[in-house]
Amino acid sequence: MALIRLDRLISNRLCITRSEAKEKIKKGQIMVNGETQRSADIKIDPALDTVLCDNQPIQCKQYIYILLNKPKGVVCATRDDAQTVLDILPEKLRRKDLFPVGRLDKDTTGLLLITNDGQFAHQVISPKKQIHKTYIATLSSPLPDAGAAAIQSGIKLADGTKALPAFLKPLNADQTQFEIRITEGKYHQVRRMFAAAGSHVADLKRIAIGALRLDTSLPEGSALELSFDAVQACLCNADNSFP
Ligand code: URA
Repeated sequence: MALIRLDRLISNRLCITRSEAKEKIKKGQIMVNGETQRSADIKIDPALDTVLCDNQPIQCKQYIYILLNKPKGVVCATRDDAQTVLDILPEKLRRKDLFPVGRLDKDTTGLLLITNDGQFAHQVISPKKQIHKTYIATLSSPLPDAGAAAIQSGIKLADGTKALPAFLKPLNADQTQFEIRITEGKYHQVRRMFAAAGSHVADLKRIAIGALRLDTSLPEGSALELSFDAVQACLCNADNSFP
């Protein structure tokens, strides 16, 4: 496991500048393995060492995986003038090196992963891996039969690009709510697919990535940390029969 300088660890985990971290170390606010540590440049082993700031434990682990039930109105970005998905994380999960795994539109809700593990994120979003992203789309008018067939066989979007075939399952009798499963991540993909099929998406929620499903009891805006083992469910599709 990679070692990390003490001031870098403190700055990252407490979301403060490097000089603020050095100041805390100088003032004796930091303990490493039970002893006050006044040198900023000692190396911490995240797997073995215990670090406290003002007697509160600091997360040393190298990689972190967070599941957020994204609410409407927040943007999937690390920085923005508007409120971001990182801004709404609870204090105890915040770190400087986090980023969202892929994007959901500002008005899309549901399952979003946030991590600092670039290799993992790449596997989830890489088109080569064909990981299923499953959504519930609520439409403002019934989807025409021909539109449904076109989505299932690979619909041509308004800009001429063709989406890969998608799995589509009606969730009500009047054809206004569907489960849709796609493997790509084009800009506004689901909304554009339904628009090309003759309907407008009024509401969109992601409910699964691969075999990892959103826990329906997790309120919108809430986040929880997942173990490395739990998050691996993202990397295998629950239903391999499609596409
Ligand atoms: N497709 C969309 O149109 N929007 C999202 O947020 C995700 C997929």
